[in-house]
Amino acid sequence: MSQTIQNNPLKHIAFIMDGNGRWAKKRGMPREYGHKHGVEAFKRMIEACDKIGVKCVTVYAFSTENWKRPKREVDAIMNLLDEYLGKDSPQSISIRVIGDISALDKKLQDKITDIQNKTANRENILNIAINYGSRAEIVNACNALIKEGKTNITEDDIISRLYTHDCPDPDLIIRTGGDIRISNFLLWQAAYSELYFTDTLWPDMTEENLKLAVESFNSRKRRYGGLDK
Ligand code: FPP
Repeated sequence: MSQTIQNNPLKHIAFIMDGNGRWAKKRGMPREYGHKHGVEAFKRMIEACDKIGVKCVTVYAFSTENWKRPKREVDAIMNLLDEYLGKDSPQSISIRVIGDISALDKKLQDKITDIQNKTANRENILNIAINYGSRAEIVNACNALIKEGKTNITEDDIISRLYTHDCPDPDLIIRTGGDIRISNFLLWQAAYSELYFTDTLWPDMTEENLKLAVESFNSRKRRYGGLDK
C-alpha cells in the first residue's frame, strides 16, 4: 500500500455493507450467496484496516428494519454471524456486537456474550451492528439516564451510554452499493464523520477500494465548524 494510506490518521472506520443481494442476482444466485461472499469482503476489510493501523472498525450487518426480509435470508445472515463468532477471531481484536441482541436466538446470544468476554481488553475493537438502529440507541441512552435520576443531561452523559462509548467517533463512514444515505446508522456518532459512497457492491470490496476511500478522506479538510488553520 502507498505511503498515504500507511500514514493515515484514521482511528475509526465504519462500513455500511450494501449490495450483497444485487451481487448475487447478477450471478443468477440467491441473495444468501451474496451475504456469504459479503462475509469474505468483511474479513478482507478487517484485515486491511488492521494493516493501516485503524484501531476501531464498525460494520452494519443487520438493522432493526432487516427483520422485514424473508425468513430464509434473515436465518442465513444469523448463521453467517454464528459461524464467524465460532471461529478464531483475529488475536488483536475485541469483538463486540452492538444492537438489541435480546431478539436473537438464545444460543446465539450466549455465543455473543462468550466471544465478547473472551476477546475483551484487546488492542483493537470490532463492533458488529446486529438488530441495530441508531434512533433506538439514542432513546435507550436517554432512558438509562432518566432511570439513574439525571435531570440535566449533557452530551457526555449520552455518549457514555451509547454502544460505542469507548470508541472515538468514526472518522470515515463508507457505504457501498450506490445508495447515498445513512439508514439509521451511528446518527449521533456521525456528526463530524466524513462520508464516502461508492457504487462498488460490498462483496467486491478490496484493499484497493479501501485505499481509494482513505485517499478521499485524506484529501478533505476537517474543520468541525471552524475555519481553516
Ligand atoms: C446489505 O446488502 C447487507 C445486509 C443487510 C447484510 C450484511 C451481512 C453480512 C455481510 C454478513 C454478516 C456477517 C458477519 C460475520 C459480519 P443487501 O442485501 O441489502 O444488498 P442489496 O441492496 O443489493 O439488496
